[in-house]
Amino acid sequence: MLDNDIQEILFTEEQLKNRVAEIARQIEADYAGKEVMLISVLRGSFIFMADLCRAIRLPCTLDFMSVSSYGAGTTSSGQVQITKDLSEDITGRHVIVVEDILDSGNTLSYLLNILEHRRPASVRLCTLLDKPERRVKPVELHYAGFTIPDAFVVGYGLDYAEKYRNLPYIGILKPEVYGGK
Ligand code: IMP
Ligand code: MG
Repeated sequence: MLDNDIQEILFTEEQLKNRVAEIARQIEADYAGKEVMLISVLRGSFIFMADLCRAIRLPCTLDFMSVSSYGAGTTSSGQVQITKDLSEDITGRHVIVVEDILDSGNTLSYLLNILEHRRPASVRLCTLLDKPERRVKPVELHYAGFTIPDAFVVGYGLDYAEKYRNLPYIGILKPEVYGGK
């Protein structure tokens, strides 16, 4: 059972649903009368993106991109690569980057820099989770679901070595699963 690898549940399905709705209300207020373009950073944010976009009652388009920075470990390397670029042009659009978790900030500072060079009307960042203790690169954050302590979490899209994404809640992975302390 996947659940046996979880030390503690941090956010239940219901808590996630409620928080996603709150973020959607904030975005609706900030972008009233505008069209937004949500960019999901694959793969961790796919579930958050699916729930968030359905909660936002604004005209909205979606696109996806994929970057690699992790390999199979639990810390980011600082070496970021675009492995799948956007399909759409973002010039003149109001872009919201949708991420699962902001950790060291390596991935997002790199990504936001690239997107800003493409001349969108605006770019904001929306992350479900924020782990500020581990920040190495400063990143401006507009929408954050929950601030979490420095622990490795999985579920609701977040993985360890590609597993646990399908857990409906977010939980702390038992350190013995990844050989941590
Ligand atoms: P950063 O470049 O260190 O900010 O890493 C961001 C990416 O690392 C996220 O998009 C996640 O894919 C992954 N990540 C960071 N912390 C965790 C975690 O606790 N669980 C699962 N993935 C994580
Ligand atoms: Mg990610």
